[in-house]
Amino acid sequence: MTTAFSPDEIRREITRLGPWFHNLDLGGISTAPDHFLGDFPSIKWRTFCNAIAPDLSGKSVLDIGCNAGFYSLEMKRRGATRVLGIDCDDSYLDQARFAAKVTELDIEFRKMSVYDVGALGEVFDVVLFLGVLYHLRHPLLALDLIHEHVARDLLVFQTMQRGSPAAGELAENYDFWDVEPFARPDYPKLHFIEHRYANDPTNWWIPNRACAEAMLRSAGFVIVSHPEIEVHICRYVADCPTDGAVYPAGRNAT
Ligand SMILES: C[S@@+](CC[C@H](N)C(=O)[O-])C[C@H]1O[C@@H](n2cnc3c(N)ncnc32)[C@H](O)[C@@H]1O
Repeated sequence: MTTAFSPDEIRREITRLGPWFHNLDLGGISTAPDHFLGDFPSIKWRTFCNAIAPDLSGKSVLDIGCNAGFYSLEMKRRGATRVLGIDCDDSYLDQARFAAKVTELDIEFRKMSVYDVGALGEVFDVVLFLGVLYHLRHPLLALDLIHEHVARDLLVFQTMQRGSPAAGELAENYDFWDVEPFARPDYPKLHFIEHRYANDPTNWWIPNRACAEAMLRSAGFVIVSHPEIEVHICRYVADCPTDGAVYPAGRNAT
C-alpha cells in the first residue's frame, strides 16, 4: 500500500481518532490490535469473502453502518465504481474518512441512519447490512426500508445471533390452539434486551437463526447462500409478501 502519510502521522491520527472497533491495517499500523474478537473484522470477512464477486467493476455499493469502513475499503479494492458508507456516529465516520485517505481509495462517507436511506434517492447493486440489525429498536422497519429504497440485487447481511442455530421447517399457518411450535428452539425468536447485553446499551433485539432468515424473507429477500452462521447472502425480489403488514390484513389491498 502506498500512502502520503508518514508512520508517525498515521500513529498520531489513530490515537486521536480512537477508540476503534475496526482493526484496520493503515500503512502497516493496526488501529485496534487488542480487539476482543481478535483481528476483527478481517477474521469475519475471510469466512464470506468468496461469496461476493471478486470483481465489482461497474457496480455500486452501499455499506450501512460502515463504522471505520473496513468493508467499504474491501469493496473499493474489488473495483466497485461507487462506494457509499453511511453511519450515524460521527467518530466512526471520521475514522473511515481517515482510512480512505491513507489508503487512497475514493469512497464517500455520509452521516445517515438506516431509517433515512429513502432520502438517498438511489439504488445500489450491492448493499451491505452487517452487524447493525441487533442495534436497532425497529429492525424489521430497517429491512423494509432497505428493500423499498436501496437494494435491487444483492444484500449481504450479518447479525449477531443467540438461541438455536437450527432452522427447521415452518408451516405457513398454525391453528390458534397449536402452541407447541412456539416452544421449539428452532421457531423464529427475537430476543429483546431491555437493558444491556455485553455491556452495550445499544443492543436491542437479537434473533436466532430461524428468525434472522424469516425476517429477511418477510422483507422481500431470497436467501441464496449462508457461508457463515451469522451471514446470509440474499437477492432482492420485487414481490414482497406484505399481505399482513397492515392490520387488519387485506384492508389496504387493491
Ligand atoms: C457492530 S458495528 C458493525 C460495523 C460494520 N458494519 C461491521 O460489520 O463490522 C455497528 C455499526 O452500526 C452503526 N449504527 C448503529 N445504529 C445505526 C443506524 N440506525 N443507522 C446506521 N448505522 C447505525 C454503529 O454506529 C456502528 O458503526
